[in-house]
Amino acid sequence: MSKVKIGIVGSRFQADCIAGAVKAIPEEAELVAVASPTKGHATDFAKRHGIPQAFSDYHDLLREPQVEMISITAPNRLHAQITIDAARAGKHVVCEKPLCMTLEEADAMIDACAKAGVLLLYAEELFFAPKYVKAKQMADEGAFGRVHLVKQGEKHSGPHSDWFWDVTQSGGGAVMDLGCHGIAFCWWFLGKPKVKSVYSQMATQVHGDRTQGEDEAITIIEFANGAVGMVESSWNRPGGMDDSIEVFGDKGQTYADILMGNALPTYSEVGFGYAVEKAASTKGWTYPVFEEHWNYGFPQEMRHFARCVRGKETPISDGATGRLVQEVLYAAYASAGEGRKIALPFRPTGVTKPIDLWKAR
Ligand SMILES: NC(=O)c1ccc[n+]([C@@H]2O[C@H](COP(=O)([O-])OP(=O)(O)OC[C@H]3O[C@@H](n4cnc5c(N)ncnc54)[C@H](O)[C@@H]3O)[C@@H](O)[C@H]2O)c1
Repeated sequence: MSKVKIGIVGSRFQADCIAGAVKAIPEEAELVAVASPTKGHATDFAKRHGIPQAFSDYHDLLREPQVEMISITAPNRLHAQITIDAARAGKHVVCEKPLCMTLEEADAMIDACAKAGVLLLYAEELFFAPKYVKAKQMADEGAFGRVHLVKQGEKHSGPHSDWFWDVTQSGGGAVMDLGCHGIAFCWWFLGKPKVKSVYSQMATQVHGDRTQGEDEAITIIEFANGAVGMVESSWNRPGGMDDSIEVFGDKGQTYADILMGNALPTYSEVGFGYAVEKAASTKGWTYPVFEEHWNYGFPQEMRHFARCVRGKETPISDGATGRLVQEVLYAAYASAGEGRKIALPFRPTGVTKPIDLWKAR
């Protein structure tokens, strides 16, 4: 069957990851267009990645008949509108995390894609990260007995673009940005059980001059099967990105570190080009990672999504996944605001951004 033709909306950080991922799966997909509003960015991106068409308005990309699926790598506040426009244009959608800003948006996105008969795929690459997939395979095989605690942490020194720090554009701080990965991960790892309650401790410890968002949080998720997920999210950890898990059962445990655990312990007095995402320096002791996209699972994720479009696989991460994460995000912020566990289902109305459930109290 022919390759799935993909258009990317956005042209910076995550757009580069998706472009790299698609180029790594030439048997399943190809990049045919990119759209980004900043003058010159889309054309530069297209040149860099060998993409034939570049637009400054994503509506023009959606009018291209050959585009079958889009990948949304624009700021969070735009995910819902771009998804709905794409669905109306008959394009399948891969949406980056978090799915959107509000539960109403999540419902509207799912609804628009269902009505148009297109797929809404939620880009949670941790479901495809080879180390985490191996840990899950062992857990499913019974290697750890009954798994009762799963921890995931994602920590770095803070986002690269201003909009992440502006909660009106991002919806919240480190939990919106990084915690969404851990929420999805714990749920997926445990076999997608119902979420019973959420507790979160949030604070702005370091970056109060730059954001109203939380830069540090611990979120505890209680699942209906009795297991617990613990998600650590931080924008206060210098030295490069840290993404790791711990899994505990009554018969064993495992630990996995996607980045430092796949790196070369390295000492250099003069430094070198690149070590790992968000590392400020390459001098002294560092942990340069190799095959970074593959270790995260980006090519494996895009391969799965392309195969879903061709009906060869069934989505393991879709709009409903993103919606569940969104509900847990709401509950986490409300918990931080109220200082207590929040039971699910949790669907407050009139929310414009999740962080208000914390800050407005
Ligand atoms: N899965 C992951 O691990 C991961 C990693 C990073 C970012 N993300 C997500 O990807 C999304 C983008 O993040 P980023 O780090 O690439 O941000 P970024 O700031 O690096 O890039 C955002 C891009 O969106 C473009 N954009 C802004 N308005 C637009 C519009 N109206 N139409 C089209 N494009 C528009 C910008 O010009 C820019 O190219 C966010 O939702 C973020 O949470 C996911």
